[in-house]
Amino acid sequence: MKNDNPVCLDVLIFLGSARVSTPPRPARLGERIARFCTDALASRGHKVNLVDPLDIALDGVFKPHFAYQRGKAPEDLELLAKSIIAADAYVMISPEYNHSMSPALAHLLNHFGSSLFAFKPSTIVTYSAGQWGGARAAVAMRTFLSELGCLPVSAMIQVPRAADVFTEKGRIREKSDEIAWREYCGRAWAQLEWWGGAARTQRAVTDPNTVVKPFLSTPSQRNAP
Ligand SMILES: Cc1cc2nc3c(=O)[nH]c(=O)nc-3n(C[C@H](O)[C@H](O)[C@H](O)COP(=O)(O)O)c2cc1C
Repeated sequence: MKNDNPVCLDVLIFLGSARVSTPPRPARLGERIARFCTDALASRGHKVNLVDPLDIALDGVFKPHFAYQRGKAPEDLELLAKSIIAADAYVMISPEYNHSMSPALAHLLNHFGSSLFAFKPSTIVTYSAGQWGGARAAVAMRTFLSELGCLPVSAMIQVPRAADVFTEKGRIREKSDEIAWREYCGRAWAQLEWWGGAARTQRAVTDPNTVVKPFLSTPSQRNAP
């Protein structure tokens, strides 16, 4: 596909399902959504990296990246922290589990402080096997991602009956549906690009950490009276 996009962003995509899907169980639906998002953003000229929670070794106990001495967290956490810092924008893909965002995605994101994501935008992508496309999870994700600092753009992508919409390779199954899906998703990608480009430009003008000090040790650094 021809790429006329003047903004080339470093986009980090989080695949929100950690469901074990060895045969005969069906593979995670999230894989096909992640492939679709990766291809769509790459074809718009962005550098895209995918984070799969199954590839990240997390301790049995919860010890976030920021609870370690600087640079001393386990390798997977350090590497992911670097990728989060380097990214200009995020895509958060989540299945709906019990009307909420995926616990695997929330757990993974909870390992990192908001200062790593701050002053960058995100796009919410949810999906489900059923008819609502994860809309209820998506609403709650706005609050979560806002607190994390990566403000969600207004357009969201919801994929109901994801197995019917996308093939395993992340292609739109029905040719006749292709334009509608591309236009629907295109709104969300265009908003991510606009905000991602604008935020990157402004970060180069003013380091946001000099304007608003990040929480480095405790939320009491909010200085609420
Ligand atoms: C624990 C659990 C809770 C679920 N809750 C919902 C739900 O609230 N709404 C919904 O539409 N689908 C729900 N589903 C169905 C998921 O949409 C479906 O299993 C989907 O394939 C999950 O994504 P994954 O295959 O990438 O893990 C739930 C599935 C599981 C395993």
